[in-house]
Amino acid sequence: MPFNVYVTRMIPRAGIDYLQENCETVDINPEDRVLSPQELLEAIKERDGILCLLTDNINEEVFDAARGAKVFANMAVGYDNIDVAEATRRGIAITNTPGVLTDATSDFAWALLFSIARRVVEADKFTRAGKFVGWGPLVFLGGDITGRTLGIIGAGRIGTAVALKSPGFRMQVLYTDIQQNETLEEKIGARRVSLEELLEKSDFVSIHVNLTPDTQHLIGPRQLELMKPTAYLINTSRGPVIDEAALVEALKEKKIAGAALDVYEEEPKVHPELMKLDNVVLTPHIASATIESRSKMALMAAENLVAVLKGKPPKNCVNPQVLKS
Ligand code: DGY
Repeated sequence: MPFNVYVTRMIPRAGIDYLQENCETVDINPEDRVLSPQELLEAIKERDGILCLLTDNINEEVFDAARGAKVFANMAVGYDNIDVAEATRRGIAITNTPGVLTDATSDFAWALLFSIARRVVEADKFTRAGKFVGWGPLVFLGGDITGRTLGIIGAGRIGTAVALKSPGFRMQVLYTDIQQNETLEEKIGARRVSLEELLEKSDFVSIHVNLTPDTQHLIGPRQLELMKPTAYLINTSRGPVIDEAALVEALKEKKIAGAALDVYEEEPKVHPELMKLDNVVLTPHIASATIESRSKMALMAAENLVAVLKGKPPKNCVNPQVLKS
């Protein structure tokens, strides 16, 4: 097919193979790093489609440079890096990769929950530093998990998957969402409550909302104040959902017991004060990073891109109104 596409950074092979089978020209950023805004503008000129990543800021200037592009296929479920309203005005399709990373991401939320509650990272550092001199009755006491209350903020695909993995730990589940989640209520007796009630009652609060103007700083000083001093906050969604400065204060003042974060307000920067605290676990936005999941995301993004170029409906279009029937 005479399609000319650009991939903004090397992705798993499955996605590249699919593009190469279906497009005449497939150029890939030769370096394993995020392109600078200027490099991105240069690279995408005269392309029919672009496979982009959540680290690419796809804005008006980018659409101006990519005149003729019919699609930006984001290799992520989140698409807050893209000005979708502007894309829609210009008739450009935006696609994402939902579903294929739900298990990997929800598993990782549990990994963070365990790591922070049972102080796994701290204890590992301690042991490697040669400080383990024998079992001690007061060494690395953490928080219980079994039988506790799990609060899910945002009961979409990933929030639901996290909650559905809780019965093995006999947890009560509270959730808050704009919509009722019958699956959670019927399968595990989860209860839909207000954000305030969830924060007051949960021992673990796990965030799974999209980043939108409504969810930016959803968790700020007032919300952190509502949490129990023994509670933990887990974030695998998007960093700006938490007011990081307020979180630092809450952690320093022991208003909450700890936080485990995979995402940050100004990625890849991490608030310098977070780095100094023991009651946090910090990972580099890797919740979906399993071999299988990333491979499926790459293939799905490539399939979405090619579908739009062939004039077929892509599986995952976030602005389907631009697709001509
Ligand atoms: C996404 O897909 O939005 C995740 O943040 C990265 O996998």
